Amino acid sequence: MARIKSIHHVAVVVTDMDKSLAFWQDALGLNLAEVREVVEEESKVAFLPLEGAEVELVMPTTGDSGIAKYLAKRGPGMHHICLEVDDIDGVLERLRKKQMRLINENPRQAADGRRYAFIHPESTGGVLVELYQV
Ligand code: CO
Repeated sequence: MARIKSIHHVAVVVTDMDKSLAFWQDALGLNLAEVREVVEEESKVAFLPLEGAEVELVMPTTGDSGIAKYLAKRGPGMHHICLEVDDIDGVLERLRKKQMRLINENPRQAADGRRYAFIHPESTGGVLVELYQV
């Protein structure tokens, strides 16, 4: 059976990357691995790895992406939690069978080959949940 392996990352949506890094990197002392433009999500992402999981700071780079709309509607803050799975198709299939609302019916593919999909907060108790298969 498809298995949930671990928390892969927690994503925070931000309006000002430098200001956010002043907290997460400078004040808290997390290591900044890289800041990358994620074209397929129309955003700029800062990756701050910890043991076994990472914090991602996500800043929209366009005005009409999903994340930009989220930011406009709800303001900055906690955006999603990402779970690493060993078989994303199997997990999505299981969720569909249980009538859970999915944002992505089929996994999307990131530039680096990872496959991911989002589950709608309506089915999760209010938290946007991302699934990742590395
Ligand atoms: Co994510």
